[in-house]
Amino acid sequence: MTQTGVRRVLRRIGFAAAVLLALAAAAIALRLAFWPSARTRHYDVPRATVDVPVDPAAIARGGHLAASVAACTICHGDDLGGRLAFDDPLLGQGYTPNLTRGRGGIAASYDVADWVRALRDGVGRDGRGLLFMPVDHYRHLSDADLGALIAYFRSLPPVDNERTALALTPIAKALIDLGLSGDVVRAATIDHRAPPPRPPRDAGAYLVEIGGCTFCHGTSLTGGRGLEPGAPRAPDLTRRGRWRQAGEAAFIAAMRGGVTLDGRAIDPRYMPWQAYRRMTDEELRAVWSYLQRLPG
Ligand code: HEC
Ligand code: HEC
Repeated sequence: MTQTGVRRVLRRIGFAAAVLLALAAAAIALRLAFWPSARTRHYDVPRATVDVPVDPAAIARGGHLAASVAACTICHGDDLGGRLAFDDPLLGQGYTPNLTRGRGGIAASYDVADWVRALRDGVGRDGRGLLFMPVDHYRHLSDADLGALIAYFRSLPPVDNERTALALTPIAKALIDLGLSGDVVRAATIDHRAPPPRPPRDAGAYLVEIGGCTFCHGTSLTGGRGLEPGAPRAPDLTRRGRWRQAGEAAFIAAMRGGVTLDGRAIDPRYMPWQAYRRMTDEELRAVWSYLQRLPG
């Protein structure tokens, strides 16, 4: 081909690329303008309640779930008064809600149905889908445990903290609205009319469910990856994996000490072992026994 011929072909390719880009930009703009986003949509959720116990044992059970298994403290802070959970130039700043009765907290005005809607449906009191809350795991909480959690939050010492809103960048919002950032808004994936799922009968399966292990280790726990950027692969936890030979004591040591089987420290940003290490021996044994019974 002559040089002018080559130039003409290149110009055509450039033109076609520009047209495609313009079309893509127009499609994205239309999608953002007219498609109801999972983030800003209103979710209609029937009001439901559970019994909220008042006895100290049940409140202690709620505290245990919040700090160790369901790990609310990881995101909402050790005093559950909200904290800066992430700060990223691309994503923005994530100040989590204050769950106490203090200034800026929700517990003083939240009624039981508000708690149930947040934890079973992933919907806030304003009808918006809550971002980042792992509600597909909390949905499986039994009525008794959900009631115990609510009782515990109501009993918490008030924390004054009014800086409790997510401040996402326009880029992060657009990525979520386009559905490119995964299931960040769990409310969009839940059938709010259906009855809540029945909690697993097996104690270990129940703890794995509400502890959210499958969130990172994969739906069949044979390995996966969490959402945190830069996270290493979360290994296979079934008997097919290397844990079979290691045994229960090594497993409990790993969960309590935050170390992998080869003795490496696990970064708590990638796995919330600082919460899980507070699980009782009995609970960790139940988790181990369940993992060993999985087919892998
Ligand atoms: C992975 C982080 C994470 C974990 C774990 C987590 N939360 Fe949240 N939670 C959030 C974020 C972020 C928001 C704010 C979402 C929004 O504004 O869209 C939130 C919102 C809430 C709200 C709604 C508050 C409102 O303004 O209406 C409640 C209630 C709540 N969380 C309770 C809990 C409880 C109880 C647990 C433990 C069982 C828990 N959260 C665990 C991140 C988390
Ligand atoms: C937020 C993501 C996340 C969650 C939730 C999570 N893990 Fe992990 N887990 C990881 C990652 C990532 C690693 C690997 C860390 C490394 O290699 O540094 C890991 C490592 C482990 C290890 C050590 C594995 C090995 O082969 O050495 C065990 C045991 C473990 N997790 C058990 C659990 C259990 C049980 C649960 C639920 C109660 C759970 N994890 C929940 C992300 C997670």
